[in-house]
Amino acid sequence: MRLENKVAIVTGAASGMGAAMARLFAREGAKVVVADVLPEGAAIAAEIVTAGGTALFQKMDVTDEAAWKDLVAILVERFGRVDILVNNAGVSGAADPDMMSSVSWDRLITVNAKGVFLGMKSVIPTMQAQGGGAIVNVSSIAAFVGQAGVHMGYNASKAASHVMTKSAAVQFGRDGIRVNSIHPGVMPAMIGTRATNAPPEARLPFIARIPLGREGRVEEAAYAALFLASDEASYISGTDLVVDGGWQANA
Ligand SMILES: NC(=O)c1ccc[n+]([C@@H]2O[C@H](COP(=O)([O-])OP(=O)(O)OC[C@H]3O[C@@H](n4cnc5c(N)ncnc54)[C@H](O)[C@@H]3O)[C@@H](O)[C@H]2O)c1
Repeated sequence: MRLENKVAIVTGAASGMGAAMARLFAREGAKVVVADVLPEGAAIAAEIVTAGGTALFQKMDVTDEAAWKDLVAILVERFGRVDILVNNAGVSGAADPDMMSSVSWDRLITVNAKGVFLGMKSVIPTMQAQGGGAIVNVSSIAAFVGQAGVHMGYNASKAASHVMTKSAAVQFGRDGIRVNSIHPGVMPAMIGTRATNAPPEARLPFIARIPLGREGRVEEAAYAALFLASDEASYISGTDLVVDGGWQANA
């Protein structure tokens, strides 16, 4: 198994790509924390346990620094370590039709950028003490380009996640900590935009540009995160892995 005996936190694991990552990491031998504001995370953790894996649900908001402290303390007490953090929790940039909303700007930056910072800040001391760890930040193709109908705060937050990945990789590499980002392209719609973006007809304009001709599956993002979190990526740090079916290559 690729993550045997590793202790992994996956934020935003009550839904979508995070839930797929939690399931996959557990199948690969990790003890997984399903961390999410939504109570539905309990069902994901229960499903993993029923399938023979190890998982626990932590109801938490990634923007709450005290909640991060509590989570790390629980893991250190229970397992003695934290090997992997996937900063996956995020909110959609297309949920609010007002592209110039300051309220949306604050929320996007707080959850999608500050949440990633707080996650790294909280686990790094434990990773340093144990001699290493792996962090995967789930950014987006929105870190590289602008898109119509997406609040620029979303792009800014994902670009922040992208470049913070490089800062952390540089600053903590000597501690054996690897930090990388993945950049999913068009995936199943996020919670905040499921009503408007999920219908097949709403997806067509996005899909038209994708060389592989379809949207991604959540498992395809999960496999990218698995690789970067695993020891197979032991000499990979500070890099970005785009998971977009060729979207970005298609000018
Ligand atoms: N769906 C896409 O097309 C797409 C594309 C590229 C990148 N992404 C990014 O991938 C990640 C996962 O997205 P998804 O598609 O699975 O979306 P999703 O909406 O299905 O899942 C996001 C999860 O994050 C949780 N979350 C939101 N705010 C939180 C907070 N403050 N604290 C804790 N948990 C919180 C939600 O409750 C939810 O369970 C996000 O960071 C998103 O920005 C999504």
